[in-house]
Amino acid sequence: MGLARTRAVSMVGMRGSMVEIEADLSSNLPGFVLIGLPDAALGEAKDRVRSAAANSGCPLPPRKITVNLSPAALPKHGSSFDLAIAVAVLGASGECDARSVGRVVHLGELGLDGRVRPVPGILPSVLAARRCGFERVMVPAGNLAEAALVPGIEAIGVASLREAAIRHGAELEPVRVEMIPAAAAEPSVQDDRDLADVVGNAEAVDAMLVAAAGGHHAFLLGPPGAGKTMLASRLPGLLPDLTPEAAIEVSSVRSLAGLPVGDALASRPPFEAPHHTASAAALIGGGSGVIRPGAAARAAHGVLFLDEAPEYPRSVLDTLRQPLESGSIEIHRAGAVATFPGQFQLVLAANPCPCGQFGSTGNSCTCPPNTRRRYLARLSGPLLDRVDIQLSVPRVTAARSLRSGGLSTAAARARVTDARGAAAARLRSTPWRTNARVSGAWLRSTRHTLAPGVTRPLDRALETGGLTMRGYERVLRVAWTIADLEGVSTPTAAHIGKALYLRKATAA
Ligand SMILES: Nc1ncnc2c1ncn2[C@@H]1O[C@H](COP(=O)(O)OP(=O)(O)O)[C@@H](O)[C@H]1O
Ligand SMILES: [Mg+2]
Repeated sequence: MGLARTRAVSMVGMRGSMVEIEADLSSNLPGFVLIGLPDAALGEAKDRVRSAAANSGCPLPPRKITVNLSPAALPKHGSSFDLAIAVAVLGASGECDARSVGRVVHLGELGLDGRVRPVPGILPSVLAARRCGFERVMVPAGNLAEAALVPGIEAIGVASLREAAIRHGAELEPVRVEMIPAAAAEPSVQDDRDLADVVGNAEAVDAMLVAAAGGHHAFLLGPPGAGKTMLASRLPGLLPDLTPEAAIEVSSVRSLAGLPVGDALASRPPFEAPHHTASAAALIGGGSGVIRPGAAARAAHGVLFLDEAPEYPRSVLDTLRQPLESGSIEIHRAGAVATFPGQFQLVLAANPCPCGQFGSTGNSCTCPPNTRRRYLARLSGPLLDRVDIQLSVPRVTAARSLRSGGLSTAAARARVTDARGAAAARLRSTPWRTNARVSGAWLRSTRHTLAPGVTRPLDRALETGGLTMRGYERVLRVAWTIADLEGVSTPTAAHIGKALYLRKATAA
């Protein structure tokens, strides 16, 4: 007696590390010290633990209590260590069985009344505990469904500290308390946005299909009301179901963001459309203390849609360059780097000018030419350089709108899934799975160079300076995807022609 230890999990980005929590009681003057790099919220843990214990019928002993969280170098943020600290102290005082306490990983915040509050990040924390070989984890009752998503580790939900103490052998009468629920999952509404709703605009529908099949980023340029938002919001529906690994990442990011995870892992690609007033932290992640994932991380394995893209501050758009380059999001802090997944598919939409009327029928644009030029220039450069598909979306006119492509989301997804399968098979021996990701070297390697007759229009454009090398590669990537969609083993001249067309966004 006098010393007990247990474990908790510290999450930094997606990486969870085990934290050892030791409690020692000595007969010095009564007091409570917490050591091991605690941030402000963790410092307040002392007060929460003291009140929670008193209100649970197992008050902390009137002795000198020292709690150490180690390793000291590991950042420890937030309030999820409360439960572990409390049971470690109760183990040290003999109220609970110290050996039982030592075998279990504890996650949860305490309310002053002794109830255990749900915390963000339960799913990745339980995954980390399992990876480190633990067999049992005690979580807030409100998070039990989320913890139970992880097979191979026993999850115990407790509604109060008293219940936790009883689980660890404390001789207390059980008292029923009302469980604090986690944020309720939104009722799963059937996504009724179908591709077949789009009438006319066959090129744009086609472009969405190509974007989905190759994982290409896309830029849609057109006047207000042309259907850009409508098209972008239908892209996630065209993507295949998430793989098991992607499902875990998507749900883990949601959990870390404090969003409801529900009682099953995500199965469909996410869609995130942050408003243009969003801050860099909201887009990429951040916050004081605990680093929370932003919209870009929540869009990983799905679609990040930036509507009215030129309206976003340059500094905010620039934060996307690193994830677009590397496929992961890194947020640097003193003493820690948080990493989140960053493999989202970017869709940018823009009006041709601030008033939106430039180039549309009955041109009523009132923007001075200079303003107009500057408007789209905000997007150019490093960001658009990575966007393979750039398309003008005209307003559908009455005559043209009579014709509907009729391609349903379900039928389109089946085609996309086949095309992705063909690409993955071809890229079997490479680190990439989609055409959007293959390197320039792969495209130029002798095994994949196309016949000179096929690439002639491209080669000529490169020679005359009409196309940069980067642009040349983007066309080739898209051409491979078009060939995959048509079930052809290598791109033909027609595929190159169509790929060239899919990068012709012009404001005129
Ligand atoms: N091609 C289209 N097919 C069907 N409806 C369309 C089409 N284009 C526009 N619409 C209608 O116009 C509305 C505005 O379209 P939206 O996607 O918001 O345009 P944008 O984002 O280009 O301003 C949509 O809600 C939709 O009802
Ligand atoms: Mg719109």
